[in-house]
Amino acid sequence: MKKTRVLSGMRPTGKLHLGNYLGALDNWVRMQDEFDCFFFVANWHALTTGADNVAEVPANTIEMVADWLGAGLDPERSTLFIQSLVPEHAELHLLFSMVTPVAWLERVPTYKEMVEQLGLESPSYGLLGYPLLQAADILMYKPAWVPVGIDQVPHVELTREVARRFNNIFGEVFPEPQAKLTEIPKVPGTDGRKMSKSYGNAIYLSDPPETVRQKVRPMVTDPARRRRTDPGNPDVCPVFDLHRIFTPPPDREYCATGCRTAAIGCLDCKDVLLKHLEPALAPIRERRQAFAEKPDRIVDILKAGSVRARKVAEATMSDVRRVVPLMP
Ligand code: TRP
Ligand code: SF4
Repeated sequence: MKKTRVLSGMRPTGKLHLGNYLGALDNWVRMQDEFDCFFFVANWHALTTGADNVAEVPANTIEMVADWLGAGLDPERSTLFIQSLVPEHAELHLLFSMVTPVAWLERVPTYKEMVEQLGLESPSYGLLGYPLLQAADILMYKPAWVPVGIDQVPHVELTREVARRFNNIFGEVFPEPQAKLTEIPKVPGTDGRKMSKSYGNAIYLSDPPETVRQKVRPMVTDPARRRRTDPGNPDVCPVFDLHRIFTPPPDREYCATGCRTAAIGCLDCKDVLLKHLEPALAPIRERRQAFAEKPDRIVDILKAGSVRARKVAEATMSDVRRVVPLMP
C-alpha cells in the first residue's frame, strides 16, 4: 500500500535547540514509519530577509542537517533534500506568481511582522513572495499533510488558495494539502522566555554535557522562591516545564512536592532535571557529532535526496506544463 505523503522544511538557521527539536524535529522523526516523508532545507527562503545572509547558508545547512540526522531522520526512509537543488520549485513559484493577487500576500501576517520586527524600509519582492515560494515547495510534492507549527498555518492556508486558483484557471493539478499541527510542549529557555536562538537562552542539541549543566544551573525559577527556605510553585517555574517533558513521574512528583514544602532547593531540583535530560540528549549529540565530522557525507545524503525529490518535481512539472501550454 502506498503511504500518505507528508512534506515539511526548515530554513537553514544553523544548529538546532531543544525548542526546535521538541516543536518539530522529534515529530518528523516519529512520522517516518507511517508516512512517505519529504523534508528539505529551504535555503532560498534564507535569503528573503537579506541576500547577504548567503554567506552563512552553506555552514548553517551542514549544522542543521547534522542535527536532523542526529535526531534520527533516516535518509533511507525519508527523502532529505535541498530546495535550490530542485530548481523546479522556482519555475512553479513563477507560474503561481501569475495567478496570485499581490493583496493576498500583503495580508499574510508573517510578512507584516517581519517588516515591522526588522524595521525594513523597503522589503524585497522575495520577502513578499516568501509564502508563495512555500506554496510551490509544498504543492510540488502533492502531499496530504504539511507538519508545521501554528505560526505556519496562514502559509498553508495560502497554499490551499493558490492550489484552488491554479486548478480553476488551468485545470486540476494540485490536491489541497492540510496543515498537520504538531502538539508543541512549552519549551522555556534559560531565562524563562520561549526558547529562541535570538534570545540567547537556548540549549542546543550539540551542547556538550558540561555546557548543558552550565546553562541549567543558573536557570530562572519561580521568582517568588528567593530563599532556600521559601516554598515555591512548580506551576510557574520554567525549570518545571522541562521536568514535565523529561522527568518521569516519580522524580517529577518528588521535585514538585519538595518545591512546595521547601524540602529541596532549586539546585537539587535542577540536578534531578539534568539527570534525565542528559540520557535524552546524549544519543542525539553523539550521532550529530559523528555526522558533523563528515560534512561531505551530509552533502552526499542531501544530493542523493535531491535527485529523488527532483524526479517527483519533474513529474509534477510535466502535469503543469500540460495544462499551461506555452510552446507553439
Ligand atoms: N516557512 C517555514 C518556516 O519558517 C519553512 C518552509 C519553507 C516550509 N517552505 C516550506 C515549511 C514548505 C513547510 C513546507 O518554518
Ligand atoms: Fe522551580 Fe524546582 Fe526551584 Fe521549584 S524547586 S522553583 S520547581 S527549580
